[in-house]
Amino acid sequence: MKKIVSLVLALALVLGLCSFATAEGAAKKVGIAMPTQSLERWNRDGAYLKEQFEAAGYETVLSYSDNKNDQQVNDIANMLSADVSLLIISCVDSDGLNTVLDEAAEKGIPVIAYDRMINNDAVSYYVSFDNYTVGVLQGTFVKEALDLDNAGDKTFNMEFTGGASTDPNAAYFFNGAYDQLAPYIEKGTIKVPSGQTTLAQCGTEQWSTDVALSRAQNILGSFYADDTVLDAWLCSNDSTSAGVAQAIESDYKGSNSVIVTGQDGDIANLANIVDGKQTMTVYKNVANEAVVTLSVAKAILSGEAIDGAALAAAQEVECAFDTSSYFSSPEKNTPAFLLVPTVVTKDNLSYLVDTGLYQWDADQKYLLAK
Ligand code: BGC
Repeated sequence: MKKIVSLVLALALVLGLCSFATAEGAAKKVGIAMPTQSLERWNRDGAYLKEQFEAAGYETVLSYSDNKNDQQVNDIANMLSADVSLLIISCVDSDGLNTVLDEAAEKGIPVIAYDRMINNDAVSYYVSFDNYTVGVLQGTFVKEALDLDNAGDKTFNMEFTGGASTDPNAAYFFNGAYDQLAPYIEKGTIKVPSGQTTLAQCGTEQWSTDVALSRAQNILGSFYADDTVLDAWLCSNDSTSAGVAQAIESDYKGSNSVIVTGQDGDIANLANIVDGKQTMTVYKNVANEAVVTLSVAKAILSGEAIDGAALAAAQEVECAFDTSSYFSSPEKNTPAFLLVPTVVTKDNLSYLVDTGLYQWDADQKYLLAK
């Protein structure tokens, strides 16, 4: 009798587990297409997404496309051939995925644009941080650090470095920052000796550190070779900030410490912050971005109507549901789930340790990934 009871119990357990696994989507495969492994953050994104989805019982196909659009098209085509039920894509080029995403739409495969918006109507939802706010935080930081409101007749010199033209986020970051500083440029409190003040002039293809470095060296050589003081350099992210900081170190003749902004919290940049070569970074917790993406994916795959505002409110982290700012085409508005970025400086590096994703090195001086 005992044997029968334990057999029944074991069977119930197995059945229970099976139904749990099915509810969590055991049979479903999810394609995760990330742009490149050359930047620290996308490695983290890929790893966190894979971990989250697999822990929830999904199979995953993860690809990185070396910042090459053609390779990403192939990666996504392969995912469609592998019968994925959903695609999560952080694009290399927001205009480069039309053919393969039209194919996804024909097959009825939903697409979540992850971090970067894609210009194709196959996209059903966008999950990211509030990208304009990232720029606002950078611009406000410079404004406050230079105390521009109390500058009187004093003037400051600064330069701008933006992101890749293929990445729609670049414009949000740049505009968010520029809008904070434009009034002071117009008043003459801020001067931009290079005269380069548009994203088209200040952009950095592929967000490359080397491209940012050589442009910064050219600017320093052309406009700061005399005693012109450089007060601040607005960089949209950490990979470009790394290039600019390197150029300042090697090619800037002044002895003042230059305010340099960034974004992402890459380990090398956090070391630059400790060493005074970079002043701040805007941190975006991409582990949380993965968690929100999983819950949006689950809601889509459930096939039931989605109450976006309720889903955003149910997240453990602060998340806005935005239905008016992002478009996959001029006619189609894409609902977006937007997380909140945070300013990190030398004074609050422990904030990163508190996320559980970073740790201090043995000397408690620099941060390491956990
Ligand atoms: C991301 C940034 C990143 C940049 C370069 C942007 O789309 O939002 O976090 O620094 O791409 O990869």
